[in-house]
Amino acid sequence: MMNTENAYNLWASHYDDMPNKTRDLEKTAALTTLQSKEYPFILELGCGTGKNTTWLRHKATQLTALDFSVEMLRKAEEKIKDNNVLFVQSDLTKVWPVADNTFDLISCSLTLEHIQDIDFIFRQAVQKLQKNGLFFLCELHPFKQYSGSKARFTDKGQLNILQCFTHHVSEYTDCAIRNGFSIEKIDEWFDADDTTTLPRLISFVFRKTTV
Ligand SMILES: C[S@@+](CC[C@H](N)C(=O)[O-])C[C@H]1O[C@@H](n2cnc3c(N)ncnc32)[C@H](O)[C@@H]1O
Repeated sequence: MMNTENAYNLWASHYDDMPNKTRDLEKTAALTTLQSKEYPFILELGCGTGKNTTWLRHKATQLTALDFSVEMLRKAEEKIKDNNVLFVQSDLTKVWPVADNTFDLISCSLTLEHIQDIDFIFRQAVQKLQKNGLFFLCELHPFKQYSGSKARFTDKGQLNILQCFTHHVSEYTDCAIRNGFSIEKIDEWFDADDTTTLPRLISFVFRKTTV
């Protein structure tokens, strides 16, 4: 199996164009959850080709977007040239290269399924947020993962399936509480709002409650 960074470097050229229900529903989930407020300092994790950066930048005075894929970042930078947006190539499994106690919102979409140790992500998030700052997280629903769903794409006729880790709902909430967050909101997102099917996505809003 190809490593995740190389896989996204390959996927970057058609990530935006190929049909992808998960990507499109996630945009709806993020917009619905976040668009009614402003967040002066935003940190985006795994920004990819900038699907959410494109609109999140209008909610911020300064937005910093991290991703380890050079090619995904290149696509985002082609689209977004605002002075208030800074793209930084970095691996989220290592200490994040941004200031502590700074951000009003950390937003992370469809990225933690590629990261095994999510406790590290919550430890970094609490360090980088201001008190009362929010951590928005939206991922492929673990129920969907239990049924075998994984991020995948076809390149030059070859199917590539990415390395994915299943994080149970209780793992997200336990990590959040252990690291000093309260749970503000949990939502589940269904294809065409059909709640008789498996939910495709789960989203969380956590709030930093520690100093
Ligand atoms: C499915 S894409 C999601 C992109 C964007 N958030 C969206 O919703 O369209 C996942 C992104 O996470 C990035 N990613 C995965 N693991 C990462 C890691 N350890 N460090 C930094 N970026 C990572 C990938 O490069 C890719 O751009």
